[in-house]
Amino acid sequence: MKKTIIITGGAGFIGSHVTRLFVKKYSDYQIINLDALTYAGNLENLTDIEKCSNYKFVKGDITNEETIRSIFNEYSIDGVIHLAAESHVDRSISEPMAFIKTNILGTTILLNAAKLHWKDNFVGKLFYHISTDEVYGSLGAEGLFTEETSYDPRSPYSASKASSDHLVRAYHHTYGLPVVISNCSNNYGPNHFPEKLIPLAINNIKKNKPIPVYGKGENVRDWLFVEDHAAAIDLVFHKGKQGETYNIGGNNEWTNIDLIKLLCRIMDTKLNRPIGESEKLITYVKDRAGHDLRYAIDSSKLQNELGWKPSLQFEEGLTKTVDWYLSNQKWLDDIVSGNYQQYYNEQYQNR
Ligand code: NAD
Ligand code: TYD
Repeated sequence: MKKTIIITGGAGFIGSHVTRLFVKKYSDYQIINLDALTYAGNLENLTDIEKCSNYKFVKGDITNEETIRSIFNEYSIDGVIHLAAESHVDRSISEPMAFIKTNILGTTILLNAAKLHWKDNFVGKLFYHISTDEVYGSLGAEGLFTEETSYDPRSPYSASKASSDHLVRAYHHTYGLPVVISNCSNNYGPNHFPEKLIPLAINNIKKNKPIPVYGKGENVRDWLFVEDHAAAIDLVFHKGKQGETYNIGGNNEWTNIDLIKLLCRIMDTKLNRPIGESEKLITYVKDRAGHDLRYAIDSSKLQNELGWKPSLQFEEGLTKTVDWYLSNQKWLDDIVSGNYQQYYNEQYQNR
């Protein structure tokens, strides 16, 4: 069926993988990638699909109500896959207001635009909100987050995402807006901005720079390959039940220090260094304020009801990721130098 879908944050890490998947898989869909191109947005993530006839990039800020309403009207949007967000916990600690603005206000502006545009005729419409497992707070040594776990966000980032989840549910409950939400664990893979742990460590190992490990490195994250997340988003968008929440996770828990040591071993092999060489770069630094100890997801609802499961083992996914970074040095250099922000001007100045 023909549909026009807006993907917000499509120039970011996860958004670019979701955009590519939808553009390639659904030639009868018109895909609008709406992105403000903040520091985290990079159109170099999408050069392979930018000329596809069912793809269009629109530069716009979800916190600008007028822009968003006019985009809904101009393109007659049927579906929203909402990924645009401020996404880095450390930045949320130093600059919380940007998170409140984009994640809470921006999401509400999108919800309102969808509600107004669809005028209570919701047949064939869907607002899909992409969220994080961090809304559930922090686990001790035992247990997993299920869809029933109470919200207990503990950083400005997770609190802003929790607020946006509540608003999405409120629009469903109050106005009948057709919504679905998924909460995913930590993603990794190609195009990950090098402020996050895995790409930062790959970059530093390559350059023989210290690998900063917060606190004692004992914090646990549940890692999922980004293309597996994109596949889950495809499934939830098409088969998920309206009003429901689906947890997405890798069933793949690692302490930060064990993960870094595995990464060091992979990098030693790839860079022809003696095994153990890169580990010498590990440097323990001051812990993150309010650092959540452990996240781990129970994704059995998604697995049992929609038949999803992760496709890659961690070592395989991490090796693929390292290979991507080593063969895409320009992508990384452009980010480190800031050049990637020129790409939009060069590519789109005459459009
Ligand atoms: P990212 O920071 O890589 O990308 C965010 C994108 O949103 C960028 O392209 C940026 O330009 C855009 N953006 C930011 N503010 C905007 C605004 N005001 N208007 C329009 N566009 C704007 O983020 P990511 O890691 O790809 O995460 C995407 C989504 O998935 C987020 O909602 C995040 O909360 C969620 N999520 C991320 C992870 C993860 O491990 N990265 C895990 C679970 C959920
Ligand atoms: P991050 O990639 O920022 O994701 P999140 O905070 O959303 O889980 O961090 C992953 C884990 O790695 C987290 O426990 C914080 C830790 N960390 C470090 O130890 N050093 C670093 O330089 C970074 C960026 C993160």
